[in-house]
Amino acid sequence: MYALKWFGSELSLLDQTLLPTEEVYRHYDSVEGVYDAIRNMVVRGAPAIGVAAAYGMVLAARTGPPGEGFLPNLESSADYLISARPTAVNLPWAVERMLATAREFSAENIKAYKGARYDALISRLEQEAILIHEEDKATSKNIGENSLSLLKPGDGVLTHCNAGALATTGSGTALAPFYLALERGFPLKIYVDETRPRLQGARLTAFELDRAGADITLICDNMAATVMSQGKIQACITGADRIAANGDTANKVGTLGVAILASYFDIPFYIAAPTSTIDPSSQRGQDILIEEREADEIRHINGSLICPPDVPVYNPGFDVTPAELITAIITEKGIIRPPYDADIM
Ligand code: MRU
Repeated sequence: MYALKWFGSELSLLDQTLLPTEEVYRHYDSVEGVYDAIRNMVVRGAPAIGVAAAYGMVLAARTGPPGEGFLPNLESSADYLISARPTAVNLPWAVERMLATAREFSAENIKAYKGARYDALISRLEQEAILIHEEDKATSKNIGENSLSLLKPGDGVLTHCNAGALATTGSGTALAPFYLALERGFPLKIYVDETRPRLQGARLTAFELDRAGADITLICDNMAATVMSQGKIQACITGADRIAANGDTANKVGTLGVAILASYFDIPFYIAAPTSTIDPSSQRGQDILIEEREADEIRHINGSLICPPDVPVYNPGFDVTPAELITAIITEKGIIRPPYDADIM
């Protein structure tokens, strides 16, 4: 099983909207297709959408046109891809890296966008996307090692949403220590929040960890306080979509509630994320744009209406956990603790 694979002329994605009941791979050979896949959450999770968008830029670049129109066309594809989902910074991070690669290649003159140089530029862009992909795979291992160093055998660990193999192109961020623990026979009891409205915990985290043979227990989001109060949880660990310069962190809506509960029960609350999720241009949490999604995501579960059909709904996809509630931020480069400002920079 893989979340994302590049086949040279097309991008293949496991359709995460159908999990866990169906495993269907979809194939994309246009930037429009990749945009739709990100927007509709066929692929989701901050690192995975960054990698998908990098390949989307390769597909856009291949449509040219060679010559003067090339860069303006690529820039508008970049804006288009970035607009698919506004909160996870990995998306603009990857797209801007692709644009910078195109600009560097042609810094001397416009001829770089024509003839043989044009072909070389296209393959340079493909190489850069592959590099972004390879780097993402490598970060999981280090995040896993760093995270596991904070856990003890036998710990109960609560996670929210899905920050695993389906959300990255490696073993994940918040779930990476669980895969490592399995490899090493390091016992952990993992509690998985179902994560309404789209149920990434129940549909995706429970699916991938169950398949891996981990010791998991699925709970409804409103049971987190109960399991904490019963002494079942020794640590909480989630992923991140954007980390501001002061350590405030946006992640799937509900993460803030987990962090507040963890603080009340004196349980460490960790964020695990690659450094590509850090956005120094957002000074603090209030600077992060939170995606609002369709009302029907709340009104329906698995296609069934669960409330009056037109009931008003508020559906923010993410929330921001203030830095003061985060015990440590775990990246591929190491673990940082408050105050975060200096270490983040
Ligand atoms: O809306 P989603 O499913 O893309 O949200 C995903 C999350 O919030 C994850 O926790 C985050 O992207 C980190 S994934 C390693």
